[in-house]
Amino acid sequence: MKVTVVGAGAVGATCADNIARKELCTELVLLDIKEGVAEGKAIDMMQTATLLGFDTKIVGCTNDYTKTAGTDVAVITSGIPRKPGMTREELIGINAGIVKTVTQNILQHSPNAIIIVISNPMDTMTYLALKSSGLPKNRIIGMGGILDSSRFKYYLSTAMGCTATDLQAVVVGGHGDTTMIPLARLATYQGTPVANYLDAEAVKKVVADTMVGGATLTGLLGTSAWYAPGAAGAALVESIVRDEKKLYPCCVYLDGEYGQKDICIGVPVVIGRNGWEKIIDYKLNDEEQALFNKSADAVRNMNSVLDTLSV
Ligand code: 2OP
Repeated sequence: MKVTVVGAGAVGATCADNIARKELCTELVLLDIKEGVAEGKAIDMMQTATLLGFDTKIVGCTNDYTKTAGTDVAVITSGIPRKPGMTREELIGINAGIVKTVTQNILQHSPNAIIIVISNPMDTMTYLALKSSGLPKNRIIGMGGILDSSRFKYYLSTAMGCTATDLQAVVVGGHGDTTMIPLARLATYQGTPVANYLDAEAVKKVVADTMVGGATLTGLLGTSAWYAPGAAGAALVESIVRDEKKLYPCCVYLDGEYGQKDICIGVPVVIGRNGWEKIIDYKLNDEEQALFNKSADAVRNMNSVLDTLSV
């Protein structure tokens, strides 16, 4: 199994580190456009192999896509991250061209690759990667909901004073501060509704904190977060290469599911060796569906910006 991570910045390098530690593949390629950065990080990570006990071979390279040939799963993290005060959407002008080119380059050398998109604005970048490549829809997966759900569980666990791994909680919709939809009604603590433990005000605060979870970290760090985004990317790679069939909320192309068409947006999907294999219908209530439709309108609006760019 071969995995490529494009972009050796903080998110890409953390994703690669997680993939190597878990030995998800025999060969891992880390590629970046900045001379020497991917090579340096790859060697640094390889020098943890005997300390951490993994045998994955990590190869770093500067923009040399021939090294990525035969990739089974490619993770695209390229582009600029947001700065404090910026929305993910403001990155579209720069990141669209980068994501399109990277997708083409990957597929030129690995026509059968499954592609995971992390670059922001992620829903629109996933749509762009799909439309510009013409790949079957199940082979393009945007990483957003899995990360937002992890943040949702973190904030719930903090409010409830329990461990996050005892919680089930899902975020659907767009991966934006105002477009994501933490599904509080369906969140459970070992099968019991979180509403049994938190009052409406507390739940409202958890939902609000989750929605700006990424922005809060950008404010603290001065750039986008990387540990959870990198780990979320690696979790998707794991479910693909090990054919785990895990159910994760991811950004995928909808063709009528959840009442939407011709859009990539976050819904619960089963992830396995064929990419995303099945969309699970959570049977949203009217209020949740209305939020989902509003979120889709905002994502569609962002997608329409692609037409004004020369990509
Ligand atoms: C985040 O939410 C990078 O969009 C990513 O942190």
